[in-house]
Amino acid sequence: MKDLLKAFQHATEAGALAATDFIGKGDKEAGDKAAVDALRLALNAIDFQGKVIIGEGEKDRAPMLFNGEIVGTGNGPKLDIAVDPIEGTALLAADLPNAICVMGLAPEGTLWDPGASFFMQKIIVGKKAKHAIDINKSVAENLATVALALDKPITSLRVFVLDKPRHDQLKAEINAAGAQTVLYPEGDVLGGLRAALPNTDIDIMMGIGGTPEGVLTACAVKALEGGFMGKRAPQFKSEIALLSAENANLEEILTLDDLVKGPIAYFSATGITSGDLLKGVVKNGGAPVFDSFVLSTKSQP
Ligand code: FBP
Repeated sequence: MKDLLKAFQHATEAGALAATDFIGKGDKEAGDKAAVDALRLALNAIDFQGKVIIGEGEKDRAPMLFNGEIVGTGNGPKLDIAVDPIEGTALLAADLPNAICVMGLAPEGTLWDPGASFFMQKIIVGKKAKHAIDINKSVAENLATVALALDKPITSLRVFVLDKPRHDQLKAEINAAGAQTVLYPEGDVLGGLRAALPNTDIDIMMGIGGTPEGVLTACAVKALEGGFMGKRAPQFKSEIALLSAENANLEEILTLDDLVKGPIAYFSATGITSGDLLKGVVKNGGAPVFDSFVLSTKSQP
């Protein structure tokens, strides 16, 4: 499995490297396409039988590794893949921090397939606070129980929130409870990762972001034994219509075990532009230098 993890790391590095040519070029789609092509090539050289369950892009019609696509050499373990060749396409296009190439994997049949659900509400915390979150309780109640679990005052809790108009009320509720909002324009995979990792400057991630990003992040949270609760949160009439055609239950609570059904998950992320957790690709004429984050659950097949 070590070799496979190394191969997954090389795959996100290949995607990140291809994307570097598009840093600050103002073209989200071209960067995404370059990363998709490089990632697909790298995945197809790995000895595994991969099925893309989530090929991010449908939500914004970006180029993508399409859902159901089979990747790998066809030999080796059967795995589901959730992939985001560029998480933070707008960050890449504007040369802003925290663009990454990322994917999550788990044994066949164990990654949640979101169907037409493009947006979901998420609460993510680390291991110490995993039993302290409840998506059906108020923001203030969640912050109070998380603060208790982390043994710190609410006033020092730092909450990662995507800085979007839809979060105006959430931000107000966090601040009214006395906690700090840490606002980022894009990139809630890294927000969730920072919340799930011990000893970072983020205690909890809250808010609505992409469902693909949610499933990806769940692979990392599972490996880190953190806490994750979610709920579908459609943002557009078209999304609501598609979900209603699917008879999707908008009230269904999605636990970490719903998103990654078994005990096994893998995660690989490589920095494209330098950010809080990962440095960007360094190209100094020689071999490129990467900064990657690779995780695996303790359980192995
Ligand atoms: P992309 O790279 O696909 O643009 O995703 C960036 C992101 O900020 C995600 O981290 C987040 O989950 C999602 O977009 C939120 O979507 P939106 O920007 O449409 O609100």
